[in-house]
Amino acid sequence: MRIVVTRNVPEAAVELLRGAGQVHVCERDQALDPAELREVVAGADGLVTMLGDQVDGAVADAAGSQLKVVANVAVGYDNLDVPALAARGVTVTNTPGVLTDATADLAFALLLMATRRLGEAERLIRSGEPWFFHLGFMLGTGLQGKTLGIIGLGEIGQAVARRARAFGMRIAYSGRRRVAADVESELDARYLTRDELLREADVLSLHCPLTEQTRHLIDAAALATMKPSAVLVNTSRGPVVDEAALAEALRAGRIAAAGLDVFEQEPAVHPGLLELENAVLIPHLGSATVETRTAMAELAARNVVGVLTGNGPVTPVEA
Ligand code: DGY
Repeated sequence: MRIVVTRNVPEAAVELLRGAGQVHVCERDQALDPAELREVVAGADGLVTMLGDQVDGAVADAAGSQLKVVANVAVGYDNLDVPALAARGVTVTNTPGVLTDATADLAFALLLMATRRLGEAERLIRSGEPWFFHLGFMLGTGLQGKTLGIIGLGEIGQAVARRARAFGMRIAYSGRRRVAADVESELDARYLTRDELLREADVLSLHCPLTEQTRHLIDAAALATMKPSAVLVNTSRGPVVDEAALAEALRAGRIAAAGLDVFEQEPAVHPGLLELENAVLIPHLGSATVETRTAMAELAARNVVGVLTGNGPVTPVEA
């Protein structure tokens, strides 16, 4: 069996993959361009991919009809054309669970940075500008008693909600469907329509996948519905937010601040956002801990090995 890994992954994952065949790791950190990707996958039975690798029917065809599995090292899989792969009999897998806490931690860090103006504060110190303590200096907003609105109360959304509860926040959410009653009652979470949530949230945190339905879910109209004091946090996918509309809303004070880990055209960031003190900008670090990235790569490897050895995938994506 030939297994192609599109970029560097932790050695522990490569070791696991060797249990199922010959492993070719593209020793690089940046995504291959589409032509290089089609070239390198030729003859692969299994493919380990990640964010930035656009894997569609053409890539599967370039691999050949023996291709059995594409294992994305991410929980999100909007970079994969799942129907096209399924139509060719290819199993698609992702890495849910192992990155829940790391991503929730980062979402909460962004929430704190944005509500307490920590990016701006750090820049002030480094600028060498004089400062002194006074009662009105760099005031942020407290969290106690405030409402955290969550769009997409899946595993990561729930983990963020638990952290927020520890900070005394109330939880409300919207999404395609209601979560189980025991989860709602554990989190004391209210299910609202999207518009109700936009109107009520003091902090809005996005945890939905990127789909045709969620692309630009947070657009100018949604931002105009939010409170002027509200803070937006996005650790899901950049295109869920209309970045140009967000930059304008932040500039005009239509919402108070935003904490963003993801961007519409990564690694580019809308120039309007770069100029704003009330935008906290982080380069897609949601799952970026040593432990989590290793666990993600190992889970992807176990998925490949499972499919290629006939034992089945561990975490398949529904086609
Ligand atoms: C994911 O898992 O989808 C992240 O965005 C990449 O770490």
